[in-house]
Amino acid sequence: MRKNIVAGNWKMNKTLQEGVALATDLKNLLADAKPNCEVIIGTPFIHLATVAELVKDSCIKVSAENCADKESGAYTGEVSAAMVASTGAEYCIIGHSERRAYYHEDYDILREKVQLALAHGLKPIFCIGEVKEEREAGKQNEVVKAQLEGSLFNLSAEDFGKIVLAYEPVWAIGTGLTATPEQAQEIHAYIRGLVAEKYGQAVADDCSILYGGSCKGSNAKGLFANPDIDGGLIGGASLKAADFKEIIDAF
Ligand code: 13P
Repeated sequence: MRKNIVAGNWKMNKTLQEGVALATDLKNLLADAKPNCEVIIGTPFIHLATVAELVKDSCIKVSAENCADKESGAYTGEVSAAMVASTGAEYCIIGHSERRAYYHEDYDILREKVQLALAHGLKPIFCIGEVKEEREAGKQNEVVKAQLEGSLFNLSAEDFGKIVLAYEPVWAIGTGLTATPEQAQEIHAYIRGLVAEKYGQAVADDCSILYGGSCKGSNAKGLFANPDIDGGLIGGASLKAADFKEIIDAF
């Protein structure tokens, strides 16, 4: 059966020292707790090796927020999937709407990133979701379908089985506007249906689909109570250990 997951995405926040302090706080808070979900923290590249070492004896797993679309070589400033894997990180967020919007990452680039992440043993947390105008035009289903088809549906069923999906409506990210549990459940069920059509019901049933977008302690329970919402990808509320723990406790 699929896993419930609460994953943090620190985005471009925290110096190395601040990140170590946050990871330490979270590790301490979870030391005696037995979370009913997998707990992942997604950190900037510079934190990965230190944080992975710090949490290695705890229930916390580590994710990168991105990786390069090239294997290696003369790509100044880029960080490859192999480098991410060498830090001890197990996951890699790919296709976040901020990368699509600000760094022009299109379906083809994201398809490359997914393949490289998988080739180096990383589990992609692949983000999809529509912008406000698309939601207002009722096009959200079309948008997520194209995103899945454009970057993931070339994978074998075996490789697709390693993917975690995150539905993040762009209009809900960092805005304080959350999709209602009904809106989120409806599109999560649609997404699972697309996976079932492509890979069969068993693969779809095993696929964790996270919700992201202004998810916090006060709304997590309502969202996670739905049959097709298997956890959250958390931005702002992952930057304080107590806030993040509140979301973990929603399970
Ligand atoms: P917020 O939780 O800050 O809205 O961010 C969500 C997100 O983008 C996680 O990837």
